[in-house]
Amino acid sequence: MTLAYWNGTYMSLADVKVSPLDRGFLFADGVYEVVAFYDRRLFQLDEHLARLERSLREIRIGTDISREELAGVFRHLMDDLPSKTGTVYLQVTRGAAAGRAHPFPAGTAASLLAFASPLKRLSESEMELGFLATTSPDIRWQRCDIKAIALLPSVLAAQDAKENGALETIMHRDGLVTECASSNVFIVRDGHIATPRADNRILNGINRQVAISLARNLGLSVEERDVSLEELRSADEIWITSTTKEIAPMTRLDNAPIGDGRPGPLWRRVRQAFCALIDQA
Ligand code: PDD
Repeated sequence: MTLAYWNGTYMSLADVKVSPLDRGFLFADGVYEVVAFYDRRLFQLDEHLARLERSLREIRIGTDISREELAGVFRHLMDDLPSKTGTVYLQVTRGAAAGRAHPFPAGTAASLLAFASPLKRLSESEMELGFLATTSPDIRWQRCDIKAIALLPSVLAAQDAKENGALETIMHRDGLVTECASSNVFIVRDGHIATPRADNRILNGINRQVAISLARNLGLSVEERDVSLEELRSADEIWITSTTKEIAPMTRLDNAPIGDGRPGPLWRRVRQAFCALIDQA
């Protein structure tokens, strides 16, 4: 059985009963986080919890659970999972009101659900081959900095990528790269790394931030700036970062090779530093 945390109680995930009036169900009115753990050590937990607090603040959901209590929930769910490597998913919605109306209901307690799942990491041999990415228009809203559970455009984009045999789809708006369905994007051109800046157009990914700081610690130049679709298509390297995909090299874009069609040297250095960080965390 998979253990879940549901509004203050641990129970089997299969036994969680969500009201049909829960605003997560009716309006996708909520936010979430996904935290990885390696060998039963939560990776970048404080950073994820800080981002969760920011998401909650931005959409004005209050909870009475402290950061320490939440950290305890993450640990409990992680420790209960037979797999030592996995993720904990946590979502908070505005809760179940008496009826359906768009404005916030008064006096409704937030609903908090969390559970852990095993993580099948992308293998070294898959990484060495590299992955296909497609491109697609970014049709999402203007507040992609909030980790909202309203994910329909991303669901459609991810399905499209899957049907084309791609690991991810790189989205663009007004000729500029934004991010992927569930990852951030980096390019390398002439030895310089660039990634779209973290404004309202993208989620400021935790592994995005980890990759930036690891690259800078290696003495590499990283610019957070606008990245055009043209630059993407003519990049020497493209990487994507996320909690579940870590730092993965894209070697084909819409079926054209990226650079020489193999994972690049800067990806390799940052990836190595990332694996070292996981091992010592
Ligand atoms: N997705 N951009 C988007 C739109 C995302 O949904 C995610 C994460 C990221 C990467 O963020 P991080 O490095 O903090 O995981 C970027 C998670 C993993 C998901 O939806 O499953």
